[in-house]
Amino acid sequence: MICMTTEVLFKFAKKDINLSPEAYKKIISLDNPLDFSSSLIVKLKSQEFSKDDLISLDENVVDDFIVTLGLSTHELDNKKNQIASKNQSTLFSDDNRNDDDIVSVDEDITLNGTDNKGLTLNDSDDKGLNLNDSDDKVLNADTAEITTTSDVKVKNLDTENVANRIATEPIFNPSIDANSTTDDIENKDKVDANVLDSFEETQSKPISKIVQDKVPKVIDASKFKRNLNPPTVEYDFEILQDTSKKSYTSGEIGNLITYFKNRYEKLSNILSKRPELRAYQKIRDLDEKATDLTLIVMVSEIRNTKNGHRIVIFEDDTDEIAVLFHKDNHELFRASEKLIKDETVGILAERKGELAIANRIIQPGIPRVPKKDMNFSAVFTSDIHIGSLTFLEDAFVRFTKWLNGDFGSEEQKEIANDVKYMVVGGDIVDGIGVYPNQDAELAIKDISDQYDEAARLLGDIRSDIKIIITPGNHDASRVAEPQPAVPEKYAKHLYELNNTEFISNPGVVSLDGWNTLIYHGRGFDDIAIGVKGFSHEHNDVIMEELLNMRHLAPIYGERTPLASELEDYLVIDNVPDIFHTGHVHINTYRNYNGVHMINSGTFQTQTEFQKIHNIVPTCANVPVLHRGTYKQLNFLSK
Ligand SMILES: [Fe+2]
Ligand SMILES: [Fe+2]
Repeated sequence: MICMTTEVLFKFAKKDINLSPEAYKKIISLDNPLDFSSSLIVKLKSQEFSKDDLISLDENVVDDFIVTLGLSTHELDNKKNQIASKNQSTLFSDDNRNDDDIVSVDEDITLNGTDNKGLTLNDSDDKGLNLNDSDDKVLNADTAEITTTSDVKVKNLDTENVANRIATEPIFNPSIDANSTTDDIENKDKVDANVLDSFEETQSKPISKIVQDKVPKVIDASKFKRNLNPPTVEYDFEILQDTSKKSYTSGEIGNLITYFKNRYEKLSNILSKRPELRAYQKIRDLDEKATDLTLIVMVSEIRNTKNGHRIVIFEDDTDEIAVLFHKDNHELFRASEKLIKDETVGILAERKGELAIANRIIQPGIPRVPKKDMNFSAVFTSDIHIGSLTFLEDAFVRFTKWLNGDFGSEEQKEIANDVKYMVVGGDIVDGIGVYPNQDAELAIKDISDQYDEAARLLGDIRSDIKIIITPGNHDASRVAEPQPAVPEKYAKHLYELNNTEFISNPGVVSLDGWNTLIYHGRGFDDIAIGVKGFSHEHNDVIMEELLNMRHLAPIYGERTPLASELEDYLVIDNVPDIFHTGHVHINTYRNYNGVHMINSGTFQTQTEFQKIHNIVPTCANVPVLHRGTYKQLNFLSK
């Protein structure tokens, strides 16, 4: 049963109306939020309310309507105090309750440190394995990496965490531009402070740019060479997933529960089709005497013991369970090192006494994608960073000239002639206020001017190439994923081009029947930095892991801000033919089980951060899928 607050959101969602968090709070504080919502929707629709992906329904509209109807709101502070005074045991707490229950306390938190004190192995071989608090304190240095990630109890929703999460879901603030006051910029920095330590944001100081051109460029729109001629080519182009108009989160705990339930439901549907997991059991329904356990669970916490074993706390939508990964089961133990927090997996385990011993981890995985013909070519690019002083404009112009048949060898020109689609996987511009003091590193200091410059450069590309643009963390979209498409109000001239399509990040399109999943790749940061065996450099390994997990950014509450939508759009519902990513500025390509995994590199030079960490960006290398074969062209030199 859907809780009442979620019902309110659904009401607006069905009518394609986004609620701002403030408007949402006002509505649910009323005596009859559902009736009020219905009336307000009728009023809004009758006034031809204009939808805008990023502009949420303002609280002032709600206020005006409250006055019109002669209603009054409850004291919101009381509700906030209720939230502050209560905790919740798991994400999967019962959602079947009234509005006030949504923040109710479940006192039976079974997996805190105190409860674990009595948890010991009955097996005599493992006498030394004792999972009390003191054991946790004597972890070896070499296990600290994993232990650190498990310290953040994302799913045990204490108030502090909830507050943090809401703070990680800011909407892009267009008011902060070059003309903003210092206070504005400082406030923006504060909002994003907990995500600023991510890989890309810390790569702040360019090293190789000749910084003579610090004067913002003046864009003369009348000089654009725009592709305003209708293309003559026939496209079989379809947008299969665009979440731009499906963002309805209010940031409340109830949404987070719904979000994780939806994620679990989607992934357990995939996993339960595996023959080994068809008869999976819910944790709460486990018979006390049952020895063979078959579970579909989400990783909640990972700990190491002083004896070198690993304990993972898993949960499903009924309860939690601790499962031991024995250090002597080498293969399985190594597999457990790659478990990622909030990942959903199948677990086969054997119960000995009070503890379950793992026998196998089963990821959702992907079936082999059958080979198929491709009678066109597509180019994949991202991280262009137009507006930055470190943007390689000359190389980018050579690239657009090549697309037009004006650059390269005859063979290269032939490939260009075949190009029907160009995908831009985020960070098309450098943005503003993305990291502290970014202003000093911008050639263009206004977000709309950056998109105008993008329109000028992309407008030079012949009009029969369809250009699909998704946002990245530098673009004018909210920070939290899924990110809605770059809005027209900031990129008017780009929208005016006859051959551009704007979709969300992530997004899925069909390019003449080739299912293409586009994800900017911010979630790579959490995995590359936080999980053993992964790195930014070998991001193809991360891409393979994401496909196997069937989720683009499973870790909630760390570097990658995720919006707790009613549906988890980062689940990979369908296996793509092409999986295109960016963000790390390092090009990789690999065919995994028939899926072309492409990370497209960048048009930005190496930054100071990358130099310190010995990361070499792949500059001005453009991947092309040329009639099904991967090729790469470099535009760095003339
Ligand atoms: Fe980037
Ligand atoms: Fe990025």
